[in-house]
Amino acid sequence: MLSTNDQNEILRRRTFAIISHPDAGKTTLTEKLLLYGGAIHVAGAVKSNKIRKTATSDWMEIEKQRGISVATSVMGFDYDGYHINILDTPGHQDFAEDTFRTLTAVDSVIIVIDSAKGVETQTRRLMEVCRMRKTPVMVFMNKMDREGKDPFDLMDDVESELGIRVTPVTWANGQGLKFESVFSLNHRPDTLSDKLKADMELIDGVYPAFDREEYLRGDLAPVFYGSAYKTVGVQELLDFFVMNAPSPRGVEAQERRVEPMEDAFTGFCFKIHANMDPNHRSCIAFFKICSGKFLRNTYYKHVREDRLMRFSAPTCFMAQKKETVDEAYAGDIVGLPDTGNFKIGDTLTAGENLHFKGLPSFSPEMFKYIENADPMKQKQLDKGVRQLMDEGVAQLFISQLNGRKIIGTVGQLQFEVIQYRLEHEYQAKCRWEPMTMYKACWIECDPESGNEGKEELDTFKKRKAQYMAFDKEERDVFMADSAYVLNMAQNDYKHLRFHFTSEF
Ligand code: G4P
Repeated sequence: MLSTNDQNEILRRRTFAIISHPDAGKTTLTEKLLLYGGAIHVAGAVKSNKIRKTATSDWMEIEKQRGISVATSVMGFDYDGYHINILDTPGHQDFAEDTFRTLTAVDSVIIVIDSAKGVETQTRRLMEVCRMRKTPVMVFMNKMDREGKDPFDLMDDVESELGIRVTPVTWANGQGLKFESVFSLNHRPDTLSDKLKADMELIDGVYPAFDREEYLRGDLAPVFYGSAYKTVGVQELLDFFVMNAPSPRGVEAQERRVEPMEDAFTGFCFKIHANMDPNHRSCIAFFKICSGKFLRNTYYKHVREDRLMRFSAPTCFMAQKKETVDEAYAGDIVGLPDTGNFKIGDTLTAGENLHFKGLPSFSPEMFKYIENADPMKQKQLDKGVRQLMDEGVAQLFISQLNGRKIIGTVGQLQFEVIQYRLEHEYQAKCRWEPMTMYKACWIECDPESGNEGKEELDTFKKRKAQYMAFDKEERDVFMADSAYVLNMAQNDYKHLRFHFTSEF
């Protein structure tokens, strides 16, 4: 049994990510939250995890910046009796896949929006992941100290662009140069300007009252206004957040749903961070604890490999420091030093055979054939490619027709990262060959369609043999070379389903 103390530890955890389009103010807001938590004492102490717009050829510089980001990958601190874990996400869109996976490890999300710009592309894509997972979200409209869009227009923007209902919790007293403060709509000042009185009437008439259940279901987003830079509206957000955001939530495994308060420890790996120093090919595997309590030097089962492992130096992240810990609770993230034992998606348990769901692969945006450029090093190349894919650097597809290997990424940068790391860590050389490809779609026949569907799938695979590939789990993937071709296929094969993520 978990002791009452252990249960309280789990209940007081709030594990979340801040997501935004680059430059909206994620780093600034994170820093202000850490200041409130007493985790840092001076502004400017958070190293920006932002990858500045850099020429692609300068990706070593980017990796250096990512190196810094290990320390800030998870920032833990205590505030008002709660234990908060902020999971950082890379801002650069070429690492969007990293961010998607990080979102599988959080219990809620705060979206930061630049009030001058409204909803931007990156935010829209990240919100799709939140919607898929029904992650509760809060919205912080930042930079109210600058001239920006009208606060009502901003909320309309969120509703229509992000597809979630909203309700304001705080309201800005002025905007731009006139911006002074924010107030809670539950504690309105006695004297209000005519403009604010009109705003209040509109708010009361149009927006629903905050309903925590709806928020927890991912149907309603409370909205806050403020300026992270001027530290206005941040405490209101933080106080509301700790009170209302969920403590660790249950997680679906293939076998059953796992609840955080279960006695036995379980967790899954959502991120592997490689050390860029070729002399120390060690990684940190980041595990989200789904249930129970994790203990140092205790044997746990690595389910995929069916063997026991124990960890003498697990780390947790307090403020900006990595510290060895003796125990960690459901909701926490532990970093386990690793030399290639783990893959993204791996499960650790106290003995049970569980496989957590919810770590889908998304269709990459760019595809290239990878060819061996040094015939003497085929083995090294194969091993390197396999390990880099396990780390989640990119996705590998294998042509069903001729066995050629295709690497899919979300940005050009990853091709360079792979090539460099193959050379420096595995002494292997690769060459890229271009291919025209629109999307990778995971296909299946409608389970209701019976034999007819199965036959259709077989026919489709035969006719499209040239375009069929296997993913890492040997699932069928249709490599559509244009939107037109995909459309045609969807029209012609009524019993087939085409998915843009590997989990459906
Ligand atoms: P990001 O992590 O989301 O990419 O954004 P970041 O916090 O780095 O903020 C991007 C820029 O916006 C920074 O300016 C930051 O100071 C500014 N900023 C953040 N919040 C606010 C706000 O509430 N009001 C105003 N006016 N500006 C804000 P920078 O010039 O790029 O960097 P710096 O020189 O100020 O550090």
